Amino acid sequence: MSESNKTMKADEGQQQPRAQRTRLSSTHLFKVLVLVFTVVILIWTFQQPLRRGFTYRPDTNVAEGPDPLGELSVEDHNINSPNSRCSLPTTRYDIQTGKTSCYPSSGGIWLADLGPVELQYLGINRFDSTERSENQSEEDHFCHELRKFGGSWYDPKSPDDLWVGGECSELDEFEPVFSIDRQVAFPAKGGVWVLGKDKETGRYPIGMAGVRNSLTMDERSMVLERLGAVYCDDVANCHLLDDLKNEPHDLAAGQNS
Ligand SMILES: *[C@@H]1O[C@H](CO)[C@@H](O)[C@H](O)[C@H]1NC(C)=O
Repeated sequence: MSESNKTMKADEGQQQPRAQRTRLSSTHLFKVLVLVFTVVILIWTFQQPLRRGFTYRPDTNVAEGPDPLGELSVEDHNINSPNSRCSLPTTRYDIQTGKTSCYPSSGGIWLADLGPVELQYLGINRFDSTERSENQSEEDHFCHELRKFGGSWYDPKSPDDLWVGGECSELDEFEPVFSIDRQVAFPAKGGVWVLGKDKETGRYPIGMAGVRNSLTMDERSMVLERLGAVYCDDVANCHLLDDLKNEPHDLAAGQNS
């Protein structure tokens, strides 16, 4: 009995410091974890895109998770973002990206991906970059013409919105506020052919390469007609172009409500 008591006491005497050691090392481990976590958060913060008005669409096809910076305010972003290192586009046609842009007075930037026949129809130089019109009413008129061909509307609030991962991205690398997807042709006889995507499948009919291969608006009209496009003889009152009656900013507001 006395021997086993001694053994127990000896054990207790040994257990005490061991427990303290365990507490000490777990505190140490906790500190290391906090440090690692802080470093990871810092790296994450500096590499994340600024999400004001639109979201960044990475080149990879990885699905986007919830916004990890969603709870941070705009002021928090500004601390990490350099001031005006980027600039918003001012081109009508950009020979590098191949995008046609317009700048409505109602706000935002409209971007469209046009082929040669559409560019020619709009009177755009197909071989060089050109700048937008400085005359805003002229620019609004151009916007109305451009938007007939569909496209995407972006609403960047500042040039810094383009600053992602340590460099300036192109506007078209971001997710637009909304897009209008349609193929349009203006035949010489007047009116307009409009082909939208199938409402159920969300796809164009098979045979769209023929649209791209068209060399003239009349060829484009013929191909769109064959693919089942709808014809309106009055362009100004074509129900398939109803979105033109509202400014992009208002269309976006209508989508959200
Ligand atoms: C701007 O364009 C409109 C329409 O094209 C034209 O009527 C107007 O005179 C122009 N204004 C200036 C200042 O050039």
